[in-house]
Amino acid sequence: MRPAFFLTVFVFVATMGAADAQTDAQDGARIAEQWCASCHQVAPGGLARDAAPSFVTLANTRGENLNWVRNRMQNPLYPMTGINLSRREIEDIVAYFETLRTE
Ligand code: HEC
Repeated sequence: MRPAFFLTVFVFVATMGAADAQTDAQDGARIAEQWCASCHQVAPGGLARDAAPSFVTLANTRGENLNWVRNRMQNPLYPMTGINLSRREIEDIVAYFETLRTE
């Protein structure tokens, strides 16, 4: 077998994965603008609003992964109890949170 073949497949799969993660994050940003921006500052920069922590703050607290965000969105606390996201939408939002991490 030629190593070049494996390399090609690897690069193909790797770039496909990256493109996917990016689309998810873009969907997540769109969902967040729609459902979360009335309380949270969703995009980095600009003025924070209301009592809700900004997404940049949330994305960079509590350790190395964002499972807690995933869990929280499956069981939203007050005042977010009215929000009902699909699994897909939660994953997109988590992908968006991932892009906001600076640590
Ligand atoms: C009605 C206003 C409101 C909306 C809409 C809202 N949030 Fe929140 N959110 C809050 C407030 C206020 C807090 C702080 C609650 C606290 O600290 O007790 C919070 C906290 C959070 C937290 C941290 C929870 C924790 O366990 O500390 C996450 C994650 C979060 N929001 C995500 C979202 C996402 C994602 C959306 C959109 C799908 C959203 N929120 C929409 C008001 C809102």
